[in-house]
Amino acid sequence: MDDFARIGGFTAEEFDAALRRLADRAREHATRGGDAPAFRRASTDALSRLGAVPDQGRPLETALEALLSDAMAYGMDTGHRRFFAFIPSPASPLSWLGDLAASIHNRHAGSELQSEGATAIERGLVRFLCDAVGYGEGAGGLFVSGGSMANLAGLCLARDQRLTREERPRGVVYLTRETHASVAKALRVIGVFDGQIRTVATDEALRMDPAALARAVAEDRAGGATPFAVVASAGTTNTGAIDPLPEIADICGREGLWLHVDGAYGASIALSPAHRSALAGIERADSLSWDAHKWLFQTYGCGVLLARDASLLPGSFALTSDYLRDGAAEGAQPNFWDLGPELTRPDRAARLWLTLQVMGRAGVGRAVAHGVALAEAAERAVRTTPGWRVVSPAQLAILVFRYAPDGLSDEMADAVNAVAARRLMEDGFAVVGTTRIGGRLCLRMCAIHPDATATDMEETVARLDALARELADR
Ligand SMILES: Cc1ncc(COP(=O)(O)O)c(C=O)c1O
Repeated sequence: MDDFARIGGFTAEEFDAALRRLADRAREHATRGGDAPAFRRASTDALSRLGAVPDQGRPLETALEALLSDAMAYGMDTGHRRFFAFIPSPASPLSWLGDLAASIHNRHAGSELQSEGATAIERGLVRFLCDAVGYGEGAGGLFVSGGSMANLAGLCLARDQRLTREERPRGVVYLTRETHASVAKALRVIGVFDGQIRTVATDEALRMDPAALARAVAEDRAGGATPFAVVASAGTTNTGAIDPLPEIADICGREGLWLHVDGAYGASIALSPAHRSALAGIERADSLSWDAHKWLFQTYGCGVLLARDASLLPGSFALTSDYLRDGAAEGAQPNFWDLGPELTRPDRAARLWLTLQVMGRAGVGRAVAHGVALAEAAERAVRTTPGWRVVSPAQLAILVFRYAPDGLSDEMADAVNAVAARRLMEDGFAVVGTTRIGGRLCLRMCAIHPDATATDMEETVARLDALARELADR
């Protein structure tokens, strides 16, 4: 009891009660089902209570209650089975448990000596993910906070491996309009300016056009620039499109360009034997981003960077100092702090490890494949509802569609779709995203929740239809 008083100002009984309260909340949350709202707006009252920090402490029980009731209960519930906007995060309760265990032990996962078990788990999972995408023996990588950091680290490698310092101002990188915005941000961070980014044309399915890429590279070389990297997407956020990886890899091979594949969203399909072939060519990527907090059912902060040749990572990320010598690697394998941007890093792998141990590779693969079937069910519902149009068919569990009946102007349809999505969200039944394709406002569903059903998809489309008709009739 004294120990608790010293470090936390609470008693062992209070601690046990808090854990029980959390266990109750975890069970309620895990079983909240489709009747719970997918979106809850906070009262300004509740929010204003959160800002204040008391001078003297208050009881753990009341502070925890405020956290659970005032802070955690509001906003978009991205783990709700009918949350379809952005990339949802249907985190498995197994991930919560793994995360909790990692949090309790709080191992420093930067060096093996500080976290031998966590390091072994992370190395094992990195190998497992490398195998899943068809990488060979020399491949490796590490867990990072998410796709943005994985893209940043991959592009650091690209810059360091393909450009001399003198060439950096002339270096050019190729992507498309559909490339995730985190790539442009990463390029800015590593000193590649907007003028060094070429946006390559896409085909009608919004995939990078390899012929256009080859032309752009040739033009840039002729103009004195130094092409150095291509960023291809294995599952764009907008439509789930996968760029033609084999053709792009051929061009990169011929031209000596680094190929970074952003598979933050779509790489998870590698675990579904039925859909694995969609990623053909991904094994030729020099570096690859893959988020476990998207379609591998993990809590946020769980992404992975893989590199086809892991021995290149220390060239960009190794650090040395006298005060780190006690954590220096003893074996043949480097510490994780030498493979990525972070020194102190949490144990991010434990949660995915626990999930895979309990569900097995096949179980996770089936859960991934379920998302593909959900989006197909939504597509059928859209196609059979008069007045609706499929803008981009179900691809990697993403469907883009739009209410556009004859007689409604494009501008009016834009407004109707936007307001219908907003009303649906405010009502709490489901959250459907909006985006723009070809300049028109569209609705977008990313359906990756393993508990969602075809009925969830049909009911969501039916409610959108009722809302859109009501709005269009005004
Ligand atoms: C394709 C893709 N790449 C990168 C990212 C960025 O990942 P994160 O938000 O984990 O940083 C996302 C996020 O949705 C994404 O969909």
